[in-house]
Amino acid sequence: MELSAGTITRVNGPIVEVAGMRRLGVGELVTVGSRRLPGEVLSLASGGATVQVYEDTSGLRPGEAIAATGHPLSAELGPGLLGGVFDGMLRRLQDAGSWLEPGTLAGALDPERRWRFTPSVRAGEDVGPHRVLGTVPETDAITYRVLVPHELAGKVEMIADEGEFTVGEAIATVAGREITLAHRWPVRRPRPAAGRLRSGRPLVTGQRAVDLLFPLCHGSTAAVPGGFGTGKTLLLQQIAKWCDADVIVYVGCGERGNELAELLEDFAELEDPRSGHRLMERTVTIVNTSNMPLLAREASIYTGVTVAEHYRDMGYDAVVIADSTSRWAEALRESAARTDELPAEEGYPPELSSTLAAFYERAGRFRTLGGEEASVTILGAVSPPGGDLAEPVTAHTRRFVRTVWSLDRQLAYARHHPAISWTDSSSRDAEAVAAWEAAEGNAGWAGRRREALQLLFDAERIASVAQLTGVESLPAAERVTLISAMLLREGVLQQSALSLNDRNCAPSKQAALLALVLEVHRALLASAGQGTAIERIEALDLSDVARIRDECAPDDVDAIARLQADIQGRIGQLG
Ligand SMILES: Nc1ncnc2c1ncn2[C@@H]1O[C@H](COP(=O)(O)OP(=O)(O)OP(=O)(O)O)[C@@H](O)[C@H]1O
Ligand SMILES: [Mg+2]
Repeated sequence: MELSAGTITRVNGPIVEVAGMRRLGVGELVTVGSRRLPGEVLSLASGGATVQVYEDTSGLRPGEAIAATGHPLSAELGPGLLGGVFDGMLRRLQDAGSWLEPGTLAGALDPERRWRFTPSVRAGEDVGPHRVLGTVPETDAITYRVLVPHELAGKVEMIADEGEFTVGEAIATVAGREITLAHRWPVRRPRPAAGRLRSGRPLVTGQRAVDLLFPLCHGSTAAVPGGFGTGKTLLLQQIAKWCDADVIVYVGCGERGNELAELLEDFAELEDPRSGHRLMERTVTIVNTSNMPLLAREASIYTGVTVAEHYRDMGYDAVVIADSTSRWAEALRESAARTDELPAEEGYPPELSSTLAAFYERAGRFRTLGGEEASVTILGAVSPPGGDLAEPVTAHTRRFVRTVWSLDRQLAYARHHPAISWTDSSSRDAEAVAAWEAAEGNAGWAGRRREALQLLFDAERIASVAQLTGVESLPAAERVTLISAMLLREGVLQQSALSLNDRNCAPSKQAALLALVLEVHRALLASAGQGTAIERIEALDLSDVARIRDECAPDDVDAIARLQADIQGRIGQLG
């Protein structure tokens, strides 16, 4: 096919008008100017096109050449992504602080590296879409599965013996087509699956406020709206480190480069408590930090989801974390402002809502074409300008995600971290998680959640009354509620990302901590009900309830049980 070429007629920041091009498609990847900057066709007019360029266009002039590539913006998928750092177009970077020279045509994968391939089919076998042809140990944590392409079925005419191959060498021929370890995928097109499944299994994040109060399932979606500095990044990083997914795709979108550099150091050092392997071995990092071209952010989100879908197709549970989707939406706004598109709310393009919906729609628990159950979970930070939670990106996102962890400025100021608000957060997965926990023999989970939320709401209401009337005028039971809610906040919901004992909390320790507070609450209520003076109850030193989360080892549930017995003894002595 002869590829079309044309010339630049106008340069407007990252938006370039071109003329003289035929047979271009919307979404097609083009190279722009003598530096061959990558760009994507936004719209077509007779004989011309509007192109958004993903790199700095300074120095670009009308009259320079532009060339079509014949394919849409696509990512190179294959073994070697895990542990790597990439830009928004999935070009490999040295580290989070580096970026590529404009026009670099670097791929994602190392073309020289040889991978040990072990076949899992025989010549002559009939295979269908996404059937596993063989495996490659990509990292110690994850086995890469080489799949039959999604649109291909037929006879295996050749399959390589066990051996070492580069990503470009054929390891099989199926129905006349050569298959290599790597392939390309257009990032804006969701990868196909056989069907959607109902979600059930909770994504255990190790963060108590999430897992106990506002949980989500594998394959679900969650957003973290919060004002400046309320802890969005830290919460998402904690989840990236400790959640029980197989593969994490972390997209740093328009955020600070040094934060990402530190995160990468942590990934390289920390071990996954489940597998004992370094967290790096399950993580793909995509960076478009605030010093990189604005429009490249727009693609990075799709690139991230595409990588996650690729591991999903191999049968894994993948999680995509996007920090921040607001910075991504800024790229949409920038692009809309420079084209003739009529802006809608606050300068965003009219399709903001459908674009957000389509992005979160790529999450889900699926039956893969190869017959596996697997999932893509999407978590996004939302950083509304000026902390205005009514602005369009926050408002639309809330409609499309199943779980919202809304970060509260006052909690953050009070150093209550993670600052997840119990009044403004929600989880549409809570019922599914309750059913799953009950089926696992953990029938108490839902009741504890209900009691905990009730305690928090009651305390909120009582505290606002107490502000008017003074605590002394409250009935004893309400004063007990204030004590217990404080224990709940300090001993369960607060969780330090920096403490070795506390940063990641196993479900057994989570349950024990919450049960401790609820039991203490009941014992205090009973004591007050039997006539113990409320002042004596308030004078009890219960500070060890708030400290035990930090003081006992991650798996030391017995220490919590001992403390519970001890405190019940102390309360008993009051009466
Ligand atoms: N779980 C936690 N444990 C300890 N400290 C925390 C925790 N969460 C947040 N913090 C504190 O809050 C600070 C700000 O957090 P973070 O950078 O995650 O906020 P952010 O909402 O992402 O900010 P920005 O709006 O600038 O992106 C951290 O540097 C840390 O001091
Ligand atoms: Mg942040």
